[in-house]
Amino acid sequence: MAYTTKQIFDALRSVKYPETEKDITTLGMVQEIKIEDKKISFSLVFQKSNDPNIEDVKKACVNAILTNLGQDVDIKGNISVKAIEKVADKSILPNVKNIIAIASGKGGVGKSTVTTNLAVALAKAGKKVGLIDADIFGPSIPKMFGVESERPKIKKENGADIIIPIDKYGLKLLSIGFFVNPEDALVWRGPMATNALKQLIFQTEWGELDYLLFDLPPGTSDIHLTLVQELPVTGAIIVSTPQQVALADAIKGINMFKGKQINVPVLGLIENMAWFTPAELPENKYYIFGKEGCKKLSEKLNVPLLGQIPIVQSICENGDNGNPSALNEDSVTGKSFADLAQNVVNTVKERNINLDSTKKVEITNDDGCDAVNH
Ligand SMILES: Nc1ncnc2c1ncn2[C@@H]1O[C@H](COP(=O)(O)OP(=O)(O)O)[C@@H](O)[C@H]1O
Ligand SMILES: [Mg+2]
Repeated sequence: MAYTTKQIFDALRSVKYPETEKDITTLGMVQEIKIEDKKISFSLVFQKSNDPNIEDVKKACVNAILTNLGQDVDIKGNISVKAIEKVADKSILPNVKNIIAIASGKGGVGKSTVTTNLAVALAKAGKKVGLIDADIFGPSIPKMFGVESERPKIKKENGADIIIPIDKYGLKLLSIGFFVNPEDALVWRGPMATNALKQLIFQTEWGELDYLLFDLPPGTSDIHLTLVQELPVTGAIIVSTPQQVALADAIKGINMFKGKQINVPVLGLIENMAWFTPAELPENKYYIFGKEGCKKLSEKLNVPLLGQIPIVQSICENGDNGNPSALNEDSVTGKSFADLAQNVVNTVKERNINLDSTKKVEITNDDGCDAVNH
């Protein structure tokens, strides 16, 4: 029987990184596991390419695999070493003008659908747009763009691997789903996901961008913290339905970004599934999830309402077919996404005039409670 990724992670959990109590899987150092019959290979990711512990850790990995999985495993010589040195340490993504985090309190409110269509609408409006799907547990951007079977190309630059994002509908996109098998997502501890996210950000040829959008996982997660620690996020956008339970979670999301520790401006709320309109009765609006819940919340919290997107069958179908509704500006749905994109452009412009640029967040202890801006 073939070995499983889980068996490999379990075996490698016995390998501690020298002088720490943490094992290399918890630290997210084990990536790109491949299993072909008795042959096991993976990459060990170090912070620096001249880490003095590289050889010792490699040897300990070989021993751990042979001890736990059997002496006949073909592992020697199959461990490759990588380093995550930031390519652009001098200035973080100097060619990216605005970094936008798109979040939601709850899953299933249409965050990915809205992000996909917003990205397409911005690109149609002539902006240079990049999109990172950072939803480790439910990456859906590849499907919504119809690029599930594509894989980004990798090129070598000064010995380092550089990822080339996928070009589709005039924008550049990458998904954590291209690099993680969804079935393995559960054994992906936080640090592994965050290391993968850092590679998508820093080891990728993004070129010049007006907007880099992030489709974040629902709720709050290590991914959110990594993003605000690694990048000066221009602003956050919260997607919600007008339903009470969704709104309650949206408030938590807003408070997380606005909180003193994170301090990322909230650009606004998007009300998705604002009402249902049947194709044969276009004037009729049915407020399935309640009327104007996000609008009322935006007034109460003094956060702009950036757009209201109706429930329309074609939005769902076009998402499944990889043909975002925003591509067709003449349709009612295409128009609502074009309006949304224009509001986002204006709000970002205003934000950049009125507020200082966001600072990266420095987390001073492991549980992330004591975060300060610097
Ligand atoms: N405005 C809308 N009209 C119709 N269907 C929608 C709309 N927004 C989202 N959906 C559908 O709802 C489901 C969940 O949307 P998704 O974008 O995956 O949510 P999330 O990213 O928040 O989990 C998908 O099947 C999607 O096609
Ligand atoms: Mg999603």
